[in-house]
Amino acid sequence: MAAGRHGAGTGTGTTGAPAGAGAGAAPPGTRAGGARGGLRVEAAGLTKRFGTVRAVTDVSFSVEPGQVTGFLGPNGAGKTTTLRMVLGLVRPTAGTVTVDGRPYARLDRPLSRVGAALDGAGAHPGRSGRDHLRWLAAAGGLPVRRCDEVLELTGLADAGGRKVGGFSLGMQQRLALAAAMLGDPDLLVLDEPANGLDPAGIAWLRGFLRTLAGEGRTVLVSSHVLSEVEQTVDRVVVLAAGHVAYDGVLGGLAGPTGVLVDSPDRPALAAALAAEGLGCTGDHSGALLVRPPEGSPVPVDPVRVGAAAARAGVALSHLAPTSQRLEEAFLRLVQRTEQASAAARRQQPPGPAPARPTTPAQPTTPQQPTTEEVR
Ligand SMILES: Nc1ncnc2c1ncn2[C@@H]1O[C@H](COP(=O)(O)OP(=O)(O)OP(=O)(O)O)[C@@H](O)[C@H]1O
Ligand SMILES: [Mg+2]
Repeated sequence: MAAGRHGAGTGTGTTGAPAGAGAGAAPPGTRAGGARGGLRVEAAGLTKRFGTVRAVTDVSFSVEPGQVTGFLGPNGAGKTTTLRMVLGLVRPTAGTVTVDGRPYARLDRPLSRVGAALDGAGAHPGRSGRDHLRWLAAAGGLPVRRCDEVLELTGLADAGGRKVGGFSLGMQQRLALAAAMLGDPDLLVLDEPANGLDPAGIAWLRGFLRTLAGEGRTVLVSSHVLSEVEQTVDRVVVLAAGHVAYDGVLGGLAGPTGVLVDSPDRPALAAALAAEGLGCTGDHSGALLVRPPEGSPVPVDPVRVGAAAARAGVALSHLAPTSQRLEEAFLRLVQRTEQASAAARRQQPPGPAPARPTTPAQPTTPQQPTTEEVR
């Protein structure tokens, strides 16, 4: 089986119920009866260096069953390297990562418990999608009927007999997902599965992943585009420059609310706010945005803003709490973490102890590391 691709197993009790490929036509579970046990993933102090390149530094997080966890970060943040460490494909320089309490390599029947898609389909272009899956199923000791089930599940039933060389990028992504689902796994690890999917495909993927999590499976999915996963994930782990920049629910990324306020006399309003120590900036419409001080978890009180204007005798045309746009918050967070990482790196040349930047990061509580090597 190709490195980076998993998905084999007994698939007992599968129903292989058909699933449409259109938006909203989320596939029903492959096992009747709904709830099932997902696998917990726990990373503690994961660090990976490739020579002098610090790909991942002191990364700790956990991934819970029954949830879709987004693994977010810009290009080069260390997402793929981390996912590879989860799957035992890259040996950590330091730290540990466990699946269901043990390294991936020590799982019983790992191919039937963990499905992964890391590098697209990776199929021979001259082979049909169905033949590619049959080859994987044979290698993993799976029943051949499972191939048609996963083709159906991923909306490829009609294209299964076509050569993979003629597949579009989106079809290749679906084939990679089909391969990951072959073993009817409890944990799905998907690296940028939305790449190459059109909007309808992304909507389909959203339903697909939500359904899998709804069945109790654990879903870990990476992306470098926040909006791609915004409506899919229960929580996110944001990586930047190899560090965990944020770990929590998506809503928490935007931080505390500010207040958008406007007046026919904007200069007078700005002066009134400044007199009360309320810093503000102009938003795109020209209205004034009063933000909490940098790093403060406390929202801006609209009453305080209104009172400041009233005291100065400034009439208001608008006053409303507002949260920072998620995308903007994400970009700011990544930028701050990258800057902090670069500063920490300048102070501490490469050595055995990885530098931890002083960022607004909220890393997961480090778990008790084991001394076992993944590979
Ligand atoms: N085998 C390798 N040898 C040397 N450097 C590597 C290797 N694999 C990854 N890196 C480096 O590690 C860093 C993290 O790479 P990684 O592929 O994990 O990032 P990523 O978050 O997945 O990025 P992308 O969004 O572009 O896929 C990068 O600087 C990359 O060049
Ligand atoms: Mg990557």
